[in-house]
Amino acid sequence: METVVSGIRSTGNLHLGNYYGAIQNFVKMQHEYNCFFFIADLHSLTTHPTPDNLHVNIKNVLVEYLAAGIDPEKATIYVQSDVQEIAELYLYLNMNAYLGELERSTSFKDKVRAHPDNVNAGLLTYPVLMAADILIHKATKVPVGKDQEQHLEMARTFGNRFNRLYNKEYFPEPYAFNFSQNLVKIPGLDGKGKMGKSEGEGNAIFLSDSPEVIRKKVMRAVTDSGPTAENQQKPEEIQNLFDLMKVVSAPDTIAHFDNLYNTMQIRYGDLKKQLAEDMIIATAPIRERINDIANDAPYLRQVARYGAIKARESAAKTIKEVREIIGFRSF
Ligand code: TRP
Repeated sequence: METVVSGIRSTGNLHLGNYYGAIQNFVKMQHEYNCFFFIADLHSLTTHPTPDNLHVNIKNVLVEYLAAGIDPEKATIYVQSDVQEIAELYLYLNMNAYLGELERSTSFKDKVRAHPDNVNAGLLTYPVLMAADILIHKATKVPVGKDQEQHLEMARTFGNRFNRLYNKEYFPEPYAFNFSQNLVKIPGLDGKGKMGKSEGEGNAIFLSDSPEVIRKKVMRAVTDSGPTAENQQKPEEIQNLFDLMKVVSAPDTIAHFDNLYNTMQIRYGDLKKQLAEDMIIATAPIRERINDIANDAPYLRQVARYGAIKARESAAKTIKEVREIIGFRSF
């Protein structure tokens, strides 16, 4: 059975983009592959969370993974920092990662531009840690979005370089993996680009948002002043609302509003009201489970411990072999 690894950084609550773009696929994959899904808390340290925030954010992602349907009996769910072997592999891989290539990574350049006052070495070597996350389980399939393509290429580079250095076909090449053929695009509510938590309050709908909050956010979504001709192409902010409908609404609902748009009779208020209600219905089961699971401390403890044991079993095997390959020998 092929091995799948993916993680989400614990930097806040999960939103509809995480769910429809990633987690829904995780839930399907867990039946067919040897899956490792983790909470990337080490990666979140680049932005220096307080100890309390760090813990709450880890808990939120764990709760939301479970609420969204990842089954700890099927997939291995774990907290990255519980598996110290990952940090050890990260150290070894760092010896084979070059400053020039790390500085050329687009995500690094974006971060430098956005936060010039916090260009730390952890940020620079983020792709090395991500490679360690994947290679530690010798995974070949990594369900991630298009924006992670370059990181995966670097993971292949680091793995291959290790193999070449020690003249051993050890690490397999990991590739981005898209389980469902139709890659869904989940736009945000601010009129441009994808849904994300760093794009500001109101852009993202979180799985934990109450119906009132969802209504408020959707009603504030950016629109234009309406179509000026029949059958005209929709500007991005309007297309985004239709794209969101495609995910949560029934086909005839979408056809109805599409028709109103094309005949210039659309009222965006009605469209948003419908969209909000459909989002509320689509996320209701997850929202309810979030509340139940978040209050079940013994269950969370059990899941985290069991996941850490399973993940460490796999990671320890790799580290033992890697240490032998590198040449660490006992006296
Ligand atoms: N970099 C990924 C993101 O920002 C998160 C991540 C960290 C990851 N390590 C990973 C994803 C390993 C897949 C596999 O979305």
